[in-house]
Parts: sequence; structure tokens; C-alpha cells
Amino acid sequence: TERTLILIKPDGVKRRYIGEILGRIERKGLDIVALKLETVTRELAGTHYAEHEGKPFFPDLLEFITSGPVVAAVLEGPRAIAAFRQIAGGTDPVEKAVPGSIRADLALDGGQNLVHGSDSVESADREIALWFPELA
Ligand code: GTP
Ligand code: MG
Repeated sequence: TERTLILIKPDGVKRRYIGEILGRIERKGLDIVALKLETVTRELAGTHYAEHEGKPFFPDLLEFITSGPVVAAVLEGPRAIAAFRQIAGGTDPVEKAVPGSIRADLALDGGQNLVHGSDSVESADREIALWFPELA
């Protein structure tokens, strides 16, 4: 079994998709083992997305992710990291996300793409420790 850190980004909260997205996670069969609503500080945002520092979209990404509350959760299950990224869909909701995925079905924009999910075991360990230090 595996754990992954996921976010419902500010666009998902504003568009009232918390229930829709948590419902898809539950229907997939992943367990929600931690869950909270939180407004992200600039510091947390910068640490979370440190791998993208210096990229052209980085300032917009920080602005966006701190623009309102996010839902953070830890999911658990067999292959949880890949399973969540499968139901999330590729980064670009039009070019990459497969129909039936969260991003393909509910988003248009490559930046405001509703959800985040850890992309490896190393990222998941780092992100869970960052968002839920009490679980690490
Ligand atoms: P996350 O789960 O959020 O990490 O998405 P991802 O793993 O599918 O994509 P990646 O880690 O490459 O990029 C992180 C986030 O930065 C994306 O989800 C987008 O919100 C944003 N992003 C990535 N590429 C672009 C881009 O070319 N333009 C804009 N505006 N935002 C981007
Ligand atoms: Mg990523």
C-alpha cells in the first residue's frame, strides 16, 4: 500500500467541486486518511512547488495557489500515487488529460487545473511531511 498527497486547488474550491472530486476519489476506492481546508501561505506554496522555481509560470503558480483556500488530503491504497494521477488526468486539461478524468471533464486551463497529486514516492513523502507533519 502507498500514500499520496493531493490538493484541490483554489479553483476547485471556488467552483464548488470539493464534493465532486472527493466523490471520484471515494469511487476509485482510495482511502482518505487525512483531510483539511487551508489557505496556503507564500512560504508553503514556494516549498511545495520548489521544483518549478525559475520556470516562466512559477510566479503565476504561486499567485494562483495562494489565491484562496485549498483542500489538502492524504490518500492511501495500492498504487495510490499513480491511481490518483490517473483519475486527475494530465497537466493540460485539453491536450493531455484523458476524457473521464477530473481535469478533462471539469477544467480548461493548464494552470488552473483543479487538483495536485504527488508524482513519486519521494515527492509523496516530502509533501506529506510538509502538509501533515503529524502523520510523518
Ligand atoms: P501538479 O499535480 O499540480 O504538480 O501538476 P502536474 O504534476 O500535472 O504538473 P507539474 O508538476 O508539471 O506543474 C505543476 C503545476 O504548475 C500544474 O498543475 C499547473 O497548475 C502549473 N503549470 C505547469 N505548467 C504550466 C504552464 O505551462 N503554464 C501555467 N500557467 N501553469 C503551469
Ligand atoms: Mg507536479
